[in-house]
Amino acid sequence: MKRLTRVFPVFGLTFALAISALAADLTGSWVFRRPGPDGTSNDTYFRLKQNGNELSGDVQQRLNLRKIDSGSIDGNHFRFQVTTSFGGQSRVMTYEGTLESDGLHVKMIPPPGMPGRGRGPGGGGRFGPTEMVAVKTSDNEGLPPARIPPPALHDVKYNGLAKTPPMGWNSWNHFHGQIDDAAVRGVADAMVSTGMKDAGYIYVNIDDTWQGKRDASGNITTNHRFPDMKALTDYVHSKGLRIGIYSGPGPLTCAGYEGSYGHEEQDANQYARWGFDYLKYDWCSASAIYQDSDMQAVYQKMGDALEHSGRPILFSLCQYGRDNVWDWGPKVSGNSWRTTGDIQDNWRSMSTIGFSQNDLAKWAAPGHWNDPDMLEVGNGGMTADEYRTHMTLWSMLAAPLLAGNDIRSMNDETKSILLNREVIALDQDRAGHQGHRAAQNGETEIWVKDLANGDIAIAMFNRGDSPADIKAAWADLGMKRAKKVRDLWAHKDIADAATGYSATVPSHGVVALRISK
Ligand code: GLA
Repeated sequence: MKRLTRVFPVFGLTFALAISALAADLTGSWVFRRPGPDGTSNDTYFRLKQNGNELSGDVQQRLNLRKIDSGSIDGNHFRFQVTTSFGGQSRVMTYEGTLESDGLHVKMIPPPGMPGRGRGPGGGGRFGPTEMVAVKTSDNEGLPPARIPPPALHDVKYNGLAKTPPMGWNSWNHFHGQIDDAAVRGVADAMVSTGMKDAGYIYVNIDDTWQGKRDASGNITTNHRFPDMKALTDYVHSKGLRIGIYSGPGPLTCAGYEGSYGHEEQDANQYARWGFDYLKYDWCSASAIYQDSDMQAVYQKMGDALEHSGRPILFSLCQYGRDNVWDWGPKVSGNSWRTTGDIQDNWRSMSTIGFSQNDLAKWAAPGHWNDPDMLEVGNGGMTADEYRTHMTLWSMLAAPLLAGNDIRSMNDETKSILLNREVIALDQDRAGHQGHRAAQNGETEIWVKDLANGDIAIAMFNRGDSPADIKAAWADLGMKRAKKVRDLWAHKDIADAATGYSATVPSHGVVALRISK
């Protein structure tokens, strides 16, 4: 009898374990951490609630929570679906798998033909059926942090930078999440050897994906691809260049790396200690916490932090032109503000963005610029005529000229476009006027920009699919007679153009002129 009572509890425990294995319960939070090569990870959370054989809850990637539309469990096998939206199109993702002793074995099945690239840590591949093992975690791990009330508004002092539109290079358009220390050094070398630096391209800017996690004191660290930021900024400075960094006001950046949320002062001080000269500050996951109407206050917080850092750091606002940023950009000491969503390396994207900037002209001024996004020149998706249009239009707009190609391997055609000093001079004109559309006829447009010395820049654009004759009469554009007319792409003076000029402009091409009284 004594012996039996000793054995019984053990049987009881075994029995209970056997029952719980049969009746799998998926209720709780599960996380799958996909490790990236840079030492960071891209986490997916499954926050599940099981009720009988029904499954509900959310799937969370970055800070985006998506509700499970329908879910079921049969034995230890489960299946659920969530609706996502990509480029305005709704798509249903299916997740299915089994509960095993080491966690949830989940297979993600995208709908057929779903495009897109994962660009976060561990991303970079195409979405396809993806298999993962998610392990149980605490219920609040990874949830968006509590809202920190934004500060009361005040004007931040102008930092004295960007008297003409910023010029330089940025890693995103070409390298995306693949940028590293060696590539930045290589680009800095090439900025000098190709003549980019001498032409005015001064800033070498690291975009998203340099970040590691925060240390125990909350200081931001770098990931494996950037082993020593101070050494890197020293190197870039030794070439006579300046260097830029990237963050955002949310907990995570657009690519899912650590953002500056709640660490604004600490980060600004760190950038200053590292020796950075430029900060691009990207809204992204701040939308999980703040409304668009909070943007000014949220950007002001970093504007203040940069000012207090004691180092002159150019402040580049990136919030895609929302909340009429041009109204308040200068008040947060913003030197430039994005006016649109992301540019892509194709004619449609570039021309739609570029030609839609006309109404913003009055907001551009020395120290504070509209930013229709970075250049794609040399990235391969457009023709030489299209890239000449891109370069000319951005210069007419007094936009930041941030090359987005691989400077280490530019061909002559790309060089001839990015290094066209006569066109760059329009962008960098010290009067700081943004050009405007003076005439439009079908798919042709004439844009005009007044320059500091009284000259006028004229760009004759053909947005159509076949060559077009474009005729400009100076009297219509505010000048009676021209003493000198210079073709800025042919690098030649034009004779017989005292009262006007006609040209056949190739499809998607441009003729750019500078006329002097
Ligand atoms: C946003 C910005 C881009 C780039 C990426 C990086 O999409 O608009 O310019 O900085 O984030 O993740």
